[in-house]
Amino acid sequence: MRKSDIISHEAPQEPQMYEELAIIETALWLGLPAWIANATPVLLGGGRPIDGGRYFRDGRRLLGDGKTVRGFIAGVLLGTITGIVQTLAAPYVPPLMEQFVTVTPEIREVLFMGPYAGFLLSLGALTGDLVGSFVKRRAGLRSGGPAPVLDQLGFIVMALIVAAPVVQPAPLIVGTLLIVTLLTHYVSNVAGYLMGYKKDPW
Ligand code: CTP
Ligand code: MG
Repeated sequence: MRKSDIISHEAPQEPQMYEELAIIETALWLGLPAWIANATPVLLGGGRPIDGGRYFRDGRRLLGDGKTVRGFIAGVLLGTITGIVQTLAAPYVPPLMEQFVTVTPEIREVLFMGPYAGFLLSLGALTGDLVGSFVKRRAGLRSGGPAPVLDQLGFIVMALIVAAPVVQPAPLIVGTLLIVTLLTHYVSNVAGYLMGYKKDPW
C-alpha cells in the first residue's frame, strides 16, 4: 500500500491495475531471452539434425529432423544477445516504472538478472525443446506432431530451471510468465503457420 492509497478516498482500482501491469511487464522481461531462443530456429534452423539421424532402441528417431544443430546454436546466440541488450537497458527501466508503481525487490530481481541469466534461459529453453522432442518420439509422435502443454510450456519450464542459479523470480511472476507463454505461443505459431514458416499451426 502506498501513501496515496491511505490519503485518497478515490477508488484505488487504478493504481492496483498498474501494479498488475508491472507484474506482466516483469514476466515479459524474464521470458524474452527464452522466447527469442525458442522462436529463432523456426527462422534460422535447418541442416544437420542434432541426433545425426540416429534411432533409439524403440526403433524411432532419437529427436527427429525438427531439431537441428544450426537451430540450436542460432537460438542460444540470439537469446543471449537479447539478455545482453536487456542488461544494458535495465538501469533505465526502474525510473520509468517508478512513475506508476513501486519497483519491488521481486521486480528488481528479474530486471537485473544479468547476461548469464539470458544465456542460461536460452540454453535451458532449447534444451527443454530437445527433451520435449525426445519424449514425443518415445510416445510415437512424428516430428511436428502436437503435444499440448509440452510443446507450449516445456521450453520455458526448463529455461527457468537451468537459470535458477542466477535468477529466482517470485512465484507470481513465474505463474504470469507461464500464462503469457501459453497465449503467445499459440498466437505466434498460428502466425508462423499462416506466413508459411511452420508446416503445422501448433
Ligand atoms: N528447429 C530447428 N532446430 C531446433 C529446433 C527447431 O531447426 N533445435 C526448426 C525446425 O525446422 C522445426 C521448426 O524449427 O521444424 C519448429 O520447431 P519445433 O516446433 O520445436 O519442432 P517440430 O518440427 O515440431 O518437431 P518436434 O515434434 O520434435 O517438436
Ligand atoms: Mg512443433
